[in-house]
Amino acid sequence: MPLVNGKYLLKNAEKFKYGQAAFNVNFVDQIDAAIEIHEIMHAPLLIQVADPALGFFAGVYDFKNSTIEDKKRGAKLVADYVINKAKDTKIPIALHLDHGRNFEVCKACVDAGFTSVMYDGSSLSFEENITNTIEVVEYAKKYDVSVEGELGVLAGVEDDVRAESSTYTNPIQALEFAEKTKIDYLAISYGTKHGSNKGKDVNLSTEIVIAIRELFLFNNVDCQIVSHGSSTIPRYLVKDLSKYGMDIENTEGIKIEQIKKAIRSGINKINIDTDIRMATTRNLLEMFEKDESYKLNKYYKFVYEYLMDNRGDFDPRSSLKPFMNEAIEGFSDKDKCIKDAIKKAVYEIMSQIIVEFNSLGKI
Ligand code: G3H
Ligand code: 13P
Ligand code: ZN
Repeated sequence: MPLVNGKYLLKNAEKFKYGQAAFNVNFVDQIDAAIEIHEIMHAPLLIQVADPALGFFAGVYDFKNSTIEDKKRGAKLVADYVINKAKDTKIPIALHLDHGRNFEVCKACVDAGFTSVMYDGSSLSFEENITNTIEVVEYAKKYDVSVEGELGVLAGVEDDVRAESSTYTNPIQALEFAEKTKIDYLAISYGTKHGSNKGKDVNLSTEIVIAIRELFLFNNVDCQIVSHGSSTIPRYLVKDLSKYGMDIENTEGIKIEQIKKAIRSGINKINIDTDIRMATTRNLLEMFEKDESYKLNKYYKFVYEYLMDNRGDFDPRSSLKPFMNEAIEGFSDKDKCIKDAIKKAVYEIMSQIIVEFNSLGKI
């Protein structure tokens, strides 16, 4: 079926009280695996591509510094791919731009066929963030594309830093922001953090979620709430990575019970990226462990050596640099071992999350 917009998925999550995970992808094989596992589990799927990942899909080596033209190309390639795959499935799928840096990249994704975009103005002043977010909302709305905004900075992992210097989202400002911008959903800061170290025993400020939810409700603001930086960094995965020689010191996730409490408090969209990166890297290392001859293979050698030289880098976009074309073309049977490593990581992480967030059977 055609792609649905993000709002459709999040309103269902809100209504039927489950968490809609949003998974970051960087390879079309991850998209295939995501669709396959969501079909098996009859779960709605929200796929997201981060702003720099658009450049990676476009084949730009230095993708973190890709130009708007590169990103336009990447956005079109990914959207065409997902739209085509969605035709053959009955599960609802939305395609979202994660952390869009400016209006141009959001526009590029809307024009390419994405059904949801995030404009991340969280580092700007409140007023500037509002002005820029409105520009994106006005454009996206014409095409029935949903918009996510962000307020608050995901930095502090200390408990209760709700003071003048707090980086956590102020609920009163959240209401004003949602009312003025008319965004569909709002990313907030309440104790989560991007990456593989969220801090020890993080206690999420679910009071902030409840306060924002209640303010939206009493003021008739139809806006769902988003949790970024929500990977749980499973301990067994950390143990595996350590066994294979990765440097996993200072690696801490958000406890799954904390995320589930946040969902019960009013979080609707939960972003997961790092868990998939780590599982992929574990699978790649397992592949080399099982068959030593891969270490000598002229194409796979780089992957192994990169990981051994960069033991704290779990981003497969770095270790799989020689396979940039495969990001959008998919791995052929010749490289089935890498394709399997990528796909199995997706099955492993997404299946757990679908069950934990209770989106199983919610299509
Ligand atoms: O929130 C950011 C996501 O984890 C994507 O990361 O900017 O390295 O693509 P990226
Ligand atoms: P993690 O780094 O916790 O996976 O968060 C991903 C994210 O927020 C993407 O926007
Ligand atoms: Zn994020």
